[in-house]
Amino acid sequence: MKAIILSGGKGTRLRPLTHTGAKQLVPVANKPILWYGIESIVEAGITDIGIIISPETGEEVQAKTGDGGQFGANITYILQEKPAGLAHAVKVARSFLGDSPFVMYLGDNLVQSELALFLEQFATRSLDALTLLCPVPNPSAFGVAKIDADGKLLQLVEKPKDPPSNLALVGIYIFTPMIHDAIAAIQPSARGELEITDAIQTLINWQKPVEARQIRGWWLDTGKKDDLLEANRVILDTCLETSIQGDIDAESQIIGRVQIGEGSKVLNCTIRGPVTIGKNCYLENCFIGPYSSVADEVTLIETDLEHSVILKGAKIEGIHKRIVDSVIGQRAHLKEAPRRPKAFRFMIGDDCQIEVV
Ligand code: G1P
Repeated sequence: MKAIILSGGKGTRLRPLTHTGAKQLVPVANKPILWYGIESIVEAGITDIGIIISPETGEEVQAKTGDGGQFGANITYILQEKPAGLAHAVKVARSFLGDSPFVMYLGDNLVQSELALFLEQFATRSLDALTLLCPVPNPSAFGVAKIDADGKLLQLVEKPKDPPSNLALVGIYIFTPMIHDAIAAIQPSARGELEITDAIQTLINWQKPVEARQIRGWWLDTGKKDDLLEANRVILDTCLETSIQGDIDAESQIIGRVQIGEGSKVLNCTIRGPVTIGKNCYLENCFIGPYSSVADEVTLIETDLEHSVILKGAKIEGIHKRIVDSVIGQRAHLKEAPRRPKAFRFMIGDDCQIEVV
């Protein structure tokens, strides 16, 4: 069994963060989204992993993730020249996959369910495809499945206006090499992409054994700012373990589950978990409240923060109001000197959002 993880795409919904980087590398609880997928695949016993990358962000994904050694995996990078659809990505990975059955994992999906469980069912029921489903309130935003009482897939439609159910296709699929024949038989959709849903529908039409299972745990889409904050909250809530490295002075108070990385300095701060703070950060006179993730090399001075994600190298000084529900990009600098400012002075990139509330 092999696995491919799709890590291309433009991440338009997460702009401006994704102007300068891949959406799959945006961190959730200080770990790139993509790495959660790699870890869950390795946990299920698959170590031969191909990561599909795009010309725009491939280098960054490769530099950050490496050859897989740190995950106990063997990673091969496969370039998809243009974003021509999920089934097109499988085509591009054809020589890596050979005649092996495989898991296809969308690199921006965060899923709690255990993959091993589904791999077992795929094998014991001799399926050609197994898809995972999750009930959602807005099925029109996803691929949608119609199933019978035994979990047999009857119909799949991509982003339907009139959804046949509320069961969305989660971005994890298991296939035998039969899927390659189905992909060879389909045409690009109205949006000009080779859709994996069409390929699976082709297997259904050929009466091949195709089934679906509902996942039990959470499934987090990290497409937009609020989704990212929600993913951060859920991961901090369920996965964070206390680990304090760095230097914490005697005036500081650490409460609840808190992680602080090597080389970080914390002076006269209150940190109330769950909170994760990366390496080589400098925090002075701050309150850091629950559900905050602060990446490496961040400076926070006289900052009051809650339910927010601060990316690498950002600097926040003397904002005398609580910062909530915020995502602050890499190397961004927020500064407010006087207590009652007379004016704001901004240098804000494209697609940013500022709310003074
Ligand atoms: C893709 C699939 C869709 C699936 C979704 C899950 O959509 O085409 O069927 O439900 O991933 O994340 P996309 O996010 O590429 O629009």
